[in-house]
Amino acid sequence: MTTTTSTRKRILTGDRPTGRLHLGHYVGSLRDRVALQYDHDTFIIVADVQALTTNFDRPEGLARDVRQVTLDNLAVGIDPDICTLFVQSLVPAIAELAVLYSMLVTVNVLRHNPTIKTEAAQRGYRDLTYGFLGYPVSQAADITFCRAHLVPVGDDQMPHIELTRKIVRRFNDLYPLPRTGAPVFPVPEGRVGRVGRLVGLDGQAKMSKSLDNCIYLDDTPAEVARKVRRAVTDPARIHASDPGHPEVCTVFAYHQAVNEGFIPELEELCRAGRIGCVACKERLTRAINDLLAPMHERRAPYLARPARIDEVLAEGTRRARAEGEETLGLVREAMRIGYFSLAHAPVPSARVSLDAPAFAHSFVP
Ligand code: TRP
Repeated sequence: MTTTTSTRKRILTGDRPTGRLHLGHYVGSLRDRVALQYDHDTFIIVADVQALTTNFDRPEGLARDVRQVTLDNLAVGIDPDICTLFVQSLVPAIAELAVLYSMLVTVNVLRHNPTIKTEAAQRGYRDLTYGFLGYPVSQAADITFCRAHLVPVGDDQMPHIELTRKIVRRFNDLYPLPRTGAPVFPVPEGRVGRVGRLVGLDGQAKMSKSLDNCIYLDDTPAEVARKVRRAVTDPARIHASDPGHPEVCTVFAYHQAVNEGFIPELEELCRAGRIGCVACKERLTRAINDLLAPMHERRAPYLARPARIDEVLAEGTRRARAEGEETLGLVREAMRIGYFSLAHAPVPSARVSLDAPAFAHSFVP
Protein backbone atom coordinates (compact mmCIF):
# COMPACT_ATOMS: atom_id res chain seq x y z
CA MET A 1 0.00 0.00 0.00
CA THR A 2 1.28 3.46 -0.77
CA THR A 3 1.57 6.02 2.00
CA THR A 4 -0.98 8.80 2.00
CA THR A 5 -0.37 12.52 2.31
CA SER A 6 -1.54 12.57 5.89
CA THR A 7 0.87 9.94 7.18
CA ARG A 8 3.91 11.06 5.23
CA LYS A 9 6.37 13.30 7.03
CA ARG A 10 6.51 16.86 5.91
CA ILE A 11 9.48 18.64 4.43
CA LEU A 12 9.90 22.37 4.21
CA THR A 13 12.90 23.77 2.42
CA GLY A 14 13.62 26.41 -0.16
CA ASP A 15 15.71 29.23 -1.51
CA ARG A 16 16.10 32.97 -1.60
CA PRO A 17 15.31 34.33 -5.04
CA THR A 18 18.42 36.43 -5.62
CA GLY A 19 19.38 35.02 -9.03
CA ARG A 20 20.13 31.72 -10.65
CA LEU A 21 20.83 28.70 -8.47
CA HIS A 22 24.27 27.12 -8.73
CA LEU A 23 26.06 23.83 -8.23
CA GLY A 24 26.61 24.63 -4.53
CA HIS A 25 22.84 24.86 -4.04
CA TYR A 26 22.43 21.60 -5.94
CA VAL A 27 24.87 19.45 -3.99
CA GLY A 28 24.05 21.16 -0.68
CA SER A 29 20.28 20.98 -0.81
CA LEU A 30 18.48 20.50 -4.13
CA ARG A 31 19.83 17.01 -4.76
CA ASP A 32 18.44 15.82 -1.42
CA ARG A 33 15.06 17.43 -1.82
CA VAL A 34 14.65 15.74 -5.19
CA ALA A 35 15.48 12.36 -3.66
CA LEU A 36 13.21 12.91 -0.65
CA GLN A 37 10.15 14.19 -2.52
CA TYR A 38 8.80 10.71 -3.28
CA ASP A 39 8.22 9.70 0.31
CA HIS A 40 7.63 13.09 1.94
CA ASP A 41 4.97 15.74 1.60
CA THR A 42 7.32 18.44 0.34
CA PHE A 43 6.84 22.21 0.56
CA ILE A 44 9.36 24.40 -1.28
CA ILE A 45 9.42 28.04 -0.35
CA VAL A 46 10.57 30.80 -2.68
CA ALA A 47 11.66 33.13 0.10
CA ASP A 48 11.14 36.52 -1.50
CA VAL A 49 10.74 38.39 1.80
CA GLN A 50 14.04 36.94 2.95
CA ALA A 51 15.63 38.10 -0.32
CA LEU A 52 14.38 41.60 0.51
CA THR A 53 16.41 41.61 3.73
CA THR A 54 19.47 42.20 1.56
CA ASN A 55 17.87 43.45 -1.70
CA PHE A 56 15.26 45.87 -0.38
CA ASP A 57 16.85 48.65 -2.44
CA ARG A 58 16.33 46.76 -5.71
CA PRO A 59 13.00 44.94 -5.43
CA GLU A 60 12.39 45.18 -9.17
CA GLY A 61 14.53 42.06 -9.75
CA LEU A 62 12.35 39.87 -7.53
CA ALA A 63 9.60 39.08 -10.05
CA ARG A 64 12.17 37.60 -12.41
CA ASP A 65 14.17 35.84 -9.69
CA VAL A 66 11.08 34.24 -8.12
CA ARG A 67 10.43 32.53 -11.44
CA GLN A 68 14.10 31.78 -12.02
CA VAL A 69 14.42 29.93 -8.72
CA THR A 70 11.17 28.05 -9.35
CA LEU A 71 12.42 27.04 -12.77
CA ASP A 72 15.74 25.87 -11.30
CA ASN A 73 13.81 23.67 -8.86
CA LEU A 74 11.72 22.22 -11.67
CA ALA A 75 14.85 21.72 -13.77
CA VAL A 76 16.65 19.64 -11.13
CA GLY A 77 13.65 17.32 -10.99
CA ILE A 78 11.22 18.68 -8.41
CA ASP A 79 7.87 17.32 -9.52
CA PRO A 80 5.14 19.97 -9.21
CA ASP A 81 2.48 17.25 -9.17
CA ILE A 82 3.74 15.92 -5.85
CA CYS A 83 5.44 18.99 -4.29
CA THR A 84 4.05 22.34 -3.21
CA LEU A 85 6.11 25.25 -4.59
CA PHE A 86 4.99 28.61 -3.24
CA VAL A 87 5.85 32.26 -2.73
CA GLN A 88 6.61 33.34 0.83
CA SER A 89 5.10 36.84 0.68
CA LEU A 90 1.78 35.47 -0.54
CA VAL A 91 1.29 33.32 2.56
CA PRO A 92 0.20 35.81 5.23
CA ALA A 93 0.36 33.21 8.03
CA ILE A 94 4.15 33.20 7.72
CA ALA A 95 4.39 36.91 8.47
CA GLU A 96 1.91 36.57 11.32
CA LEU A 97 3.77 33.66 12.91
CA ALA A 98 7.05 35.57 12.61
CA VAL A 99 5.59 38.39 14.71
CA LEU A 100 4.37 35.96 17.37
CA TYR A 101 7.73 34.14 17.47
CA SER A 102 9.63 37.42 17.75
CA MET A 103 8.49 37.55 21.36
CA LEU A 104 10.28 34.28 22.09
CA VAL A 105 13.73 35.23 20.79
CA THR A 106 16.19 37.71 22.31
CA VAL A 107 18.22 40.17 20.28
CA ASN A 108 21.42 38.78 21.75
CA VAL A 109 20.70 35.29 20.49
CA LEU A 110 20.21 36.69 16.99
CA ARG A 111 23.40 38.73 17.15
CA HIS A 112 25.41 35.61 17.92
CA ASN A 113 24.02 33.60 15.01
CA PRO A 114 27.17 32.56 13.06
CA THR A 115 25.48 32.65 9.65
CA ILE A 116 24.15 36.15 10.27
CA LYS A 117 27.65 37.22 11.34
CA THR A 118 29.32 35.75 8.26
CA GLU A 119 26.77 37.26 5.87
CA ALA A 120 26.94 40.67 7.55
CA ALA A 121 30.75 40.65 7.33
CA GLN A 122 30.68 39.50 3.69
CA ARG A 123 28.34 42.34 2.79
CA GLY A 124 30.20 44.89 4.89
CA TYR A 125 27.16 45.72 7.03
CA ARG A 126 28.15 47.82 10.02
CA ASP A 127 24.70 48.10 11.48
CA LEU A 128 21.97 45.56 10.81
CA THR A 129 18.37 46.24 9.89
CA TYR A 130 15.73 44.77 12.13
CA GLY A 131 14.61 42.65 9.15
CA PHE A 132 18.07 41.25 8.41
CA LEU A 133 18.88 40.51 12.06
CA GLY A 134 15.48 38.90 12.44
CA TYR A 135 15.29 36.83 9.27
CA PRO A 136 16.09 33.61 11.16
CA VAL A 137 12.86 34.21 13.13
CA SER A 138 10.97 34.60 9.88
CA GLN A 139 12.66 31.40 8.68
CA ALA A 140 11.29 29.63 11.76
CA ALA A 141 7.86 30.75 10.56
CA ASP A 142 8.67 29.42 7.04
CA ILE A 143 9.46 26.03 8.51
CA THR A 144 6.55 25.80 10.94
CA PHE A 145 3.65 27.34 9.03
CA CYS A 146 3.03 23.86 7.57
CA ARG A 147 4.23 22.05 10.73
CA ALA A 148 7.21 20.50 8.93
CA HIS A 149 9.21 17.61 10.38
CA LEU A 150 12.30 17.73 8.21
CA VAL A 151 14.39 20.53 6.68
CA PRO A 152 17.03 19.42 4.16
CA VAL A 153 19.59 22.24 3.86
CA GLY A 154 23.25 23.12 3.32
CA ASP A 155 25.39 23.35 6.46
CA ASP A 156 25.26 27.17 6.64
CA GLN A 157 21.55 26.88 7.48
CA MET A 158 21.96 24.74 10.59
CA PRO A 159 22.12 27.69 13.02
CA HIS A 160 18.70 28.77 11.71
CA ILE A 161 17.28 25.27 12.18
CA GLU A 162 18.67 25.23 15.72
CA LEU A 163 16.88 28.51 16.42
CA THR A 164 13.66 27.13 14.93
CA ARG A 165 13.89 24.13 17.23
CA LYS A 166 14.35 26.41 20.22
CA ILE A 167 11.37 28.55 19.25
CA VAL A 168 9.19 25.49 18.68
CA ARG A 169 10.13 23.93 22.02
CA ARG A 170 9.45 27.19 23.79
CA PHE A 171 6.15 27.65 21.97
CA ASN A 172 4.95 24.11 22.69
CA ASP A 173 5.97 24.52 26.31
CA LEU A 174 4.22 27.84 26.84
CA TYR A 175 1.16 27.14 24.73
CA PRO A 176 -0.11 23.56 24.73
CA LEU A 177 -3.48 23.12 23.03
CA PRO A 178 -6.42 23.50 25.40
CA ARG A 179 -8.20 20.34 26.51
CA THR A 180 -5.70 17.79 25.10
CA GLY A 181 -2.51 19.61 26.12
CA ALA A 182 -0.99 18.45 22.83
CA PRO A 183 1.83 20.47 21.25
CA VAL A 184 0.96 22.47 18.12
CA PHE A 185 4.26 21.77 16.37
CA PRO A 186 6.59 18.85 15.77
CA VAL A 187 10.19 19.82 16.58
CA PRO A 188 11.70 19.96 13.08
CA GLU A 189 14.98 18.34 12.19
CA GLY A 190 17.66 19.77 9.94
CA ARG A 191 19.34 17.44 7.53
CA VAL A 192 22.60 18.22 5.77
CA GLY A 193 23.40 16.03 2.76
CA ARG A 194 26.61 14.18 1.96
CA VAL A 195 28.16 17.44 0.75
CA GLY A 196 27.11 20.26 3.05
CA ARG A 197 29.00 22.96 1.22
CA LEU A 198 30.89 23.38 -2.04
CA VAL A 199 34.00 25.55 -2.39
CA GLY A 200 34.02 28.29 -5.03
CA LEU A 201 35.90 27.99 -8.32
CA ASP A 202 38.43 30.40 -6.82
CA GLY A 203 39.03 28.13 -3.82
CA GLN A 204 37.01 30.44 -1.49
CA ALA A 205 35.10 28.72 1.30
CA LYS A 206 31.76 28.77 -0.46
CA MET A 207 30.30 28.93 -3.93
CA SER A 208 28.36 32.17 -3.83
CA LYS A 209 26.82 34.52 -6.32
CA SER A 210 28.16 37.58 -4.54
CA LEU A 211 31.70 36.15 -4.79
CA ASP A 212 31.28 35.47 -8.53
CA ASN A 213 32.77 31.98 -8.28
CA CYS A 214 29.89 29.78 -9.38
CA ILE A 215 28.87 27.20 -11.94
CA TYR A 216 25.18 27.85 -12.56
CA LEU A 217 22.70 25.06 -13.14
CA ASP A 218 21.79 26.59 -16.50
CA ASP A 219 25.37 27.14 -17.69
CA THR A 220 26.01 25.76 -21.17
CA PRO A 221 28.57 22.96 -21.68
CA ALA A 222 31.02 25.53 -23.10
CA GLU A 223 30.61 27.79 -20.08
CA VAL A 224 31.20 24.86 -17.74
CA ALA A 225 34.36 23.89 -19.65
CA ARG A 226 35.68 27.46 -19.51
CA LYS A 227 34.97 27.87 -15.79
CA VAL A 228 36.47 24.51 -14.84
CA ARG A 229 39.62 25.32 -16.84
CA ARG A 230 40.28 28.36 -14.67
CA ALA A 231 39.39 26.66 -11.36
CA VAL A 232 42.06 26.83 -8.68
CA THR A 233 43.97 23.57 -8.08
CA ASP A 234 46.85 22.50 -5.85
CA PRO A 235 49.29 25.46 -6.03
CA ALA A 236 52.28 23.18 -5.32
CA ARG A 237 51.74 21.37 -8.60
CA ILE A 238 53.59 22.84 -11.57
CA HIS A 239 54.18 19.83 -13.84
CA ALA A 240 51.64 17.14 -14.57
CA SER A 241 54.01 14.57 -13.08
CA ASP A 242 54.38 16.40 -9.72
CA PRO A 243 52.59 14.56 -6.91
CA GLY A 244 49.28 16.29 -6.13
CA HIS A 245 47.49 17.06 -2.86
CA PRO A 246 43.79 16.35 -3.39
CA GLU A 247 42.87 17.65 0.07
CA VAL A 248 43.70 21.23 -0.97
CA CYS A 249 42.37 21.01 -4.54
CA THR A 250 39.10 22.63 -5.59
CA VAL A 251 38.77 20.34 -8.60
CA PHE A 252 39.10 17.27 -6.39
CA ALA A 253 36.37 18.64 -4.10
CA TYR A 254 34.09 18.97 -7.12
CA HIS A 255 34.84 15.40 -8.20
CA GLN A 256 33.88 14.33 -4.67
CA ALA A 257 30.60 16.21 -4.99
CA VAL A 258 29.49 15.11 -8.45
CA ASN A 259 31.71 12.20 -9.51
CA GLU A 260 31.95 10.09 -6.37
CA GLY A 261 32.61 6.83 -8.22
CA PHE A 262 35.88 8.13 -9.65
CA ILE A 263 37.28 9.25 -6.27
CA PRO A 264 39.39 6.28 -5.12
CA GLU A 265 41.08 5.99 -8.52
CA LEU A 266 41.53 9.76 -8.91
CA GLU A 267 43.05 10.14 -5.48
CA GLU A 268 45.66 7.51 -6.28
CA LEU A 269 46.43 8.93 -9.74
CA CYS A 270 46.75 12.49 -8.41
CA ARG A 271 48.99 11.65 -5.46
CA ALA A 272 51.25 9.61 -7.75
CA GLY A 273 51.45 12.39 -10.33
CA ARG A 274 49.89 10.08 -12.92
CA ILE A 275 47.08 12.40 -13.94
CA GLY A 276 47.66 16.04 -14.79
CA CYS A 277 45.35 18.89 -13.79
CA VAL A 278 44.28 19.46 -17.39
CA ALA A 279 43.10 15.86 -17.82
CA CYS A 280 41.51 15.88 -14.38
CA LYS A 281 39.60 19.03 -15.26
CA GLU A 282 38.41 17.51 -18.53
CA ARG A 283 37.00 14.57 -16.59
CA LEU A 284 35.26 16.98 -14.24
CA THR A 285 33.80 19.05 -17.07
CA ARG A 286 32.32 15.89 -18.52
CA ALA A 287 30.86 14.84 -15.17
CA ILE A 288 29.27 18.24 -14.57
CA ASN A 289 27.87 18.48 -18.07
CA ASP A 290 26.40 14.98 -17.73
CA LEU A 291 24.71 16.18 -14.55
CA LEU A 292 23.37 19.38 -16.12
CA ALA A 293 22.19 17.84 -19.41
CA PRO A 294 18.88 16.45 -18.07
CA MET A 295 18.31 19.77 -16.28
CA HIS A 296 18.58 21.63 -19.59
CA GLU A 297 16.09 19.16 -21.00
CA ARG A 298 13.55 19.62 -18.20
CA ARG A 299 13.95 23.40 -18.42
CA ALA A 300 13.13 23.63 -22.12
CA PRO A 301 9.33 23.18 -22.02
CA TYR A 302 9.00 25.84 -19.32
CA LEU A 303 11.08 28.27 -21.32
CA ALA A 304 8.78 27.60 -24.26
CA ARG A 305 5.76 28.32 -22.04
CA PRO A 306 6.81 30.48 -19.06
CA ALA A 307 3.19 30.96 -17.91
CA ARG A 308 3.39 27.33 -16.75
CA ILE A 309 5.86 28.44 -14.05
CA ASP A 310 3.27 30.89 -12.72
CA GLU A 311 0.63 28.19 -12.76
CA VAL A 312 2.84 25.94 -10.64
CA LEU A 313 3.44 28.75 -8.15
CA ALA A 314 -0.18 29.84 -8.04
CA GLU A 315 -1.38 26.32 -7.34
CA GLY A 316 1.27 25.71 -4.68
CA THR A 317 0.65 29.08 -3.06
CA ARG A 318 -3.06 28.37 -2.83
CA ARG A 319 -2.36 25.14 -0.93
CA ALA A 320 0.26 26.84 1.27
CA ARG A 321 -2.21 29.56 2.24
CA ALA A 322 -4.77 27.01 3.31
CA GLU A 323 -2.15 25.18 5.38
CA GLY A 324 -1.05 28.46 6.94
CA GLU A 325 -4.60 29.38 7.94
CA GLU A 326 -5.06 26.00 9.57
CA THR A 327 -1.81 26.28 11.55
CA LEU A 328 -2.59 29.83 12.58
CA GLY A 329 -6.00 28.69 13.84
CA LEU A 330 -4.27 26.17 16.14
CA VAL A 331 -1.73 28.78 17.21
CA ARG A 332 -4.47 31.25 18.16
CA GLU A 333 -6.29 28.55 20.05
CA ALA A 334 -3.15 27.45 21.90
CA MET A 335 -2.19 31.04 22.74
CA ARG A 336 -5.76 31.84 23.78
CA ILE A 337 -5.89 34.72 21.36
CA GLY A 338 -8.79 33.41 19.26
CA TYR A 339 -11.27 35.46 21.34
CA PHE A 340 -14.26 34.85 19.09
CA SER A 341 -15.27 33.02 15.94
CA LEU A 342 -14.15 34.53 12.66
CA ALA A 343 -15.68 31.73 10.62
CA HIS A 344 -17.82 34.09 8.56
CA ALA A 345 -15.51 37.07 8.41
CA PRO A 346 -13.68 37.63 5.14
CA VAL A 347 -9.97 36.79 5.25
CA PRO A 348 -8.40 40.08 4.12
CA SER A 349 -5.54 38.31 2.37
CA ALA A 350 -8.02 36.39 0.20
CA ARG A 351 -8.15 39.51 -1.91
CA VAL A 352 -4.78 38.60 -3.45
CA SER A 353 -5.76 36.88 -6.66
CA LEU A 354 -3.92 33.69 -7.42
CA ASP A 355 -5.47 33.06 -10.79
CA ALA A 356 -2.40 32.18 -12.76
CA PRO A 357 -2.89 34.57 -15.69
CA ALA A 358 -3.43 37.48 -13.30
CA PHE A 359 -0.26 36.53 -11.48
CA ALA A 360 1.60 39.01 -13.69
CA HIS A 361 4.24 37.39 -15.82
CA SER A 362 7.08 38.81 -17.80
CA PHE A 363 9.56 36.03 -17.36
CA VAL A 364 12.75 36.60 -19.26
CA PRO A 365 15.43 34.25 -17.99
N1 TRP B 1 17.94 30.80 4.11
C1 TRP B 1 17.84 29.90 2.99
C2 TRP B 1 18.99 30.23 2.01
O1 TRP B 1 19.58 31.28 2.09
C3 TRP B 1 16.53 30.03 2.25
C4 TRP B 1 15.34 29.70 3.11
C5 TRP B 1 14.33 30.55 3.47
C6 TRP B 1 15.05 28.45 3.72
N2 TRP B 1 13.45 29.94 4.25
C7 TRP B 1 13.83 28.65 4.43
C8 TRP B 1 15.70 27.20 3.75
C9 TRP B 1 13.27 27.62 5.20
C10 TRP B 1 15.12 26.17 4.50
C11 TRP B 1 13.92 26.38 5.23
O2 TRP B 1 19.27 29.42 1.15
